Amino acid sequence: MGRKEQQMAATLLAWYEENRRDLPWRRSGDPYVVWISEVMLQQTRVDTVVPYFTRFVDRFPDVRSLAKAPLDRVLKAWENLGYYGRARNLHRAARDILERHGGNLPSDRNALLRLPGIGPYITGAILSMAFGKAEAAVDGNVRRIMARLYAIREPLDTAATLRELDERAGALVPLDCPGDFNQALMDLGAQVCTPRVPRCEVCPWRVECAALREGDAESLPVRRKKEPVPRRRAVAAVIRDEQGRCLIVKRMNRGLLGGLWKLPGGEVPSEEPPARGLERLVTEELGLRIRVDRNPLASVDHVYSHFRLTLEAYACEWRGGRPEVLGCEAWAWMALDERDRYPFSRADHKLLNALLE
Ligand code: ADE
Repeated sequence: MGRKEQQMAATLLAWYEENRRDLPWRRSGDPYVVWISEVMLQQTRVDTVVPYFTRFVDRFPDVRSLAKAPLDRVLKAWENLGYYGRARNLHRAARDILERHGGNLPSDRNALLRLPGIGPYITGAILSMAFGKAEAAVDGNVRRIMARLYAIREPLDTAATLRELDERAGALVPLDCPGDFNQALMDLGAQVCTPRVPRCEVCPWRVECAALREGDAESLPVRRKKEPVPRRRAVAAVIRDEQGRCLIVKRMNRGLLGGLWKLPGGEVPSEEPPARGLERLVTEELGLRIRVDRNPLASVDHVYSHFRLTLEAYACEWRGGRPEVLGCEAWAWMALDERDRYPFSRADHKLLNALLE
């Protein structure tokens, strides 16, 4: 690496020494701990992650305990954290690591990249933080910092621009303390070089920053206009047995909420009347014939990263058939005080709460 880069890395590391956040995963260099924390942090804010992380490594302290746990327990520990594919991949990867690497995370880039849910960012994070290798860990925050530091004015959505930003970040990673350097960049992105109103006056790189010099720190990186968020509608069936328990189903193990439980039903296209859609969905999912009340019992809204969902629950009358596993992984009768036993999404918890009121 060049002298200038060496000096910049040293400046950032000195800043980190003074300003580092005390975060639970930073107290250990255990590759397992780095892996779990980075998977959680990749799509979730630090404040939200901290309690989940602590509970997760308490319940599953190593690769073996995670690999041996039933997926339902892992999803329960992930409940409300979102992007549940992350939890399913963690579980699959733990099994791979136990089978193929004797229960230890590999320190080889290609071996890491072959594990489910581990991409270039997490590979770089694990290699640098747990194995001391001079690898970059480039996420959106780091790209924002690079775009400002080098006044890159192209929107960050072409492969060529992304490659340039990744190379810029890679050129700065020092041979000494690469893991601290990468975490220093994350803290800089979270505390100083923030998206809207960067605090350039306290930035350790204020002398080197091209965007600051040119008065563009706030306007870089260039943002594309956001597409409006689409609205989607889902319907859910409240079907009770003689004891008043509710019929619930486990989603297939794929997609956004795969493996989580819910009331029967699902998304309906806007042109289909909701009650008719619900009758169709419940037949497809469970082979039951039902009659759906005209008006919903409860309705909640939930915002996902790329759409808004309105979720409505309808009282249903059971007209025929016995529940069968057709379009689901499993079904169960659940008393309302048994909710803790099953992982549900945040939107489904909202709906169940609304039904209880
Ligand atoms: N965001 C992603 N990884 C992080 C880490 N290790 N520390 C703080 N914030 C992060």
